[in-house]
Amino acid sequence: MSEYNELLQKSIFKNIQSMVVECNQNNKSNQNNQNEIVKLNIGCGPCMFAHDGWTNYDHANFDQFINFIKTLPSDAKSLKFMEELRDYAKAGGELKIIPHDLTKGFPQHSDNSVHLIYLGQVIEHINPIFKAPELIKECYRMLKPGGVMRLTTPDLDLLVHAYINGEMDKFACEQPDFYKDRDPSAQLAMLMYGSSGASCVFNNYEGHMFLYTKTSMNKLLKDAGFEKIIYYNKTGESVSEVLKKEVLDFGMTHSLCLEVIK
Ligand SMILES: C[S@@+](CC[C@H](N)C(=O)[O-])C[C@H]1O[C@@H](n2cnc3c(N)ncnc32)[C@H](O)[C@@H]1O
Repeated sequence: MSEYNELLQKSIFKNIQSMVVECNQNNKSNQNNQNEIVKLNIGCGPCMFAHDGWTNYDHANFDQFINFIKTLPSDAKSLKFMEELRDYAKAGGELKIIPHDLTKGFPQHSDNSVHLIYLGQVIEHINPIFKAPELIKECYRMLKPGGVMRLTTPDLDLLVHAYINGEMDKFACEQPDFYKDRDPSAQLAMLMYGSSGASCVFNNYEGHMFLYTKTSMNKLLKDAGFEKIIYYNKTGESVSEVLKKEVLDFGMTHSLCLEVIK
């Protein structure tokens, strides 16, 4: 990257950061309580964040999972997010989970009322022609100016390149054991069709309807009104201090991870 481009990127990033910080500061001065920041985890699956104030939406029922989490012994070693959830739930933390079909919109949230949205590994499960554009527009509508949406989704370019270059094993660390025993074509198909995720069990096929590249994702976001798109390579990086601290991203080895600011 040329020096000019690097400087340009840094200055855009700085501007973006000050916009978001402003949003966070407004929250503090207006409400004095971080719990009152409106934070939506849409299509949460079992990946709820062990922090106060998140509203988790999913059409699946997670009662059994939550009960299981609560009974995990305190010293049991499990996946990091499950350990965090267990400790949070045992300490009396509130897990607010609302059954909701995200393709039906969110009339319960008025325009410009939400500070943060997390859409982790969800958009690929939604009809790309009719429902995904509606969902992203709905997120834009709900977000306050300066509010941030973070999104992860499998990266079609990354998967295809890895397949062509014989590198499908590099995704194995986040996949169930059976992934390692399959040939590269089956590994590619599993990741593309979403049939190898941890929540894919005999009665639950986690099928994908579509996969995005940066190009098609940028179009989806821009058509909804988002102008600034920032891509990340690892979890824990964010323009929002709250997201940086509270969100864990899944599937990062094979996914796009991005934030947009309204
Ligand atoms: C692969 S999981 C993602 C879980 C988590 N957000 C993450 O980052 O890993 C996809 C989730 O989207 C949910 N989902 C798919 N379609 C949905 C819909 N129409 N309404 C609500 N939730 C939906 C599924 O139930 C599932 O929990």
